[in-house]
Amino acid sequence: MRILGIETSCDETAAAVVEDGCTILSNVIASQVDLHAQYGGVFPELASRAHVEAIAPVVEQALRDAHVGWDDLDAIAATYGPGLPGSLLVGLNFAKGAALGKGLPLVPVNHLEAHLYAHWLHTDAESNDGALDEAMTFPVLALIVSGGHTELILVHDHGHYTYLGGTLDDAAGEAFDKVARLLGLSYPGGPAIEQAARQGNARAFDFPRAWLPGTYDFSFSGLKTAVLRMLQRLSEPRSPRFVADMAASFQAAVIEVLAEKTAQAAKANAAQVVLLSGGVSANASLRTATRARLEIPVHTLPPILCTDNAAMVAAAGTYRYRAGVRAGWDLDIDPGLRLA
Ligand code: KG4
Ligand code: ZN
Repeated sequence: MRILGIETSCDETAAAVVEDGCTILSNVIASQVDLHAQYGGVFPELASRAHVEAIAPVVEQALRDAHVGWDDLDAIAATYGPGLPGSLLVGLNFAKGAALGKGLPLVPVNHLEAHLYAHWLHTDAESNDGALDEAMTFPVLALIVSGGHTELILVHDHGHYTYLGGTLDDAAGEAFDKVARLLGLSYPGGPAIEQAARQGNARAFDFPRAWLPGTYDFSFSGLKTAVLRMLQRLSEPRSPRFVADMAASFQAAVIEVLAEKTAQAAKANAAQVVLLSGGVSANASLRTATRARLEIPVHTLPPILCTDNAAMVAAAGTYRYRAGVRAGWDLDIDPGLRLA
């Protein structure tokens, strides 16, 4: 079974062909990073326009790379939420048009569910390595951490979820992006902060951790303000050493809370495995800190499957397709769509 996935929920125009929900035949991503770098975050209007320009060539490239034609596909899976309205519209409408024109079924995909199903993809097609075992045991505890999301989700079985907690203000990735901008580091901020932090001392500055006891919720806006206040108190120019110490201390504050709450949620719910998904899950210290707190496997992804891509949309779409889910032509985008 071959499914074409289409993803345009934020700032990546992506299309991919996936076989049987696990083998990546192609995975094309047109990133808009350069376009948004000058703003230090995603500029929705520009994102939408860039998707319009990129979507057709990206889909064609995905079919070419996979060496398949439209007739070789079983269905088209597209993200319909959550995300930026103007961005979601481009991918979903393209998918609808293609499905109608080529006589293929359309499968609606929740972007958050797609981030989870990235874990069922074989990351090395040659060896079929990297994917989760089909026969894995539930429950599974998933931490989805990206530029738009910070959510702890308990997965009882395929398609059955409980929302345990999430951010009350900024998403974790958003905090990385904003603090990177304050520190004069490049966009996206996550990789830039992680790199700067390698030369820094994580105990140089004692930034606040919002524990929000008794909940699995997160809050990063106080931390961001603490970084801002610290910078305002100090006069320029900032030395590379100072920036590295700030980056390392900020990163430690975010990672400690993410890892600790993930570990607590996994233990409290007797999770059999933890899945780390989303752009921020590319962060090595998040992986190390989470593993250090748990004895169960903590499954991570190669960077290309952490950030937004369409292979994960096709993977989630395959499970939905097998479950008989089909979208009507009246399917609309749902920018605030939840997983549970
Ligand atoms: O999953 P993603 O591509 O987009 C959303 O769905 O939002 O995640 C992008 C986010 C950005 O905020 C970026 O700064 C962050 O993931 N990110 C990282 C790292 N790599 C990407 N954050 C921390 N450490 C990293 N290594
Ligand atoms: Zn995402």
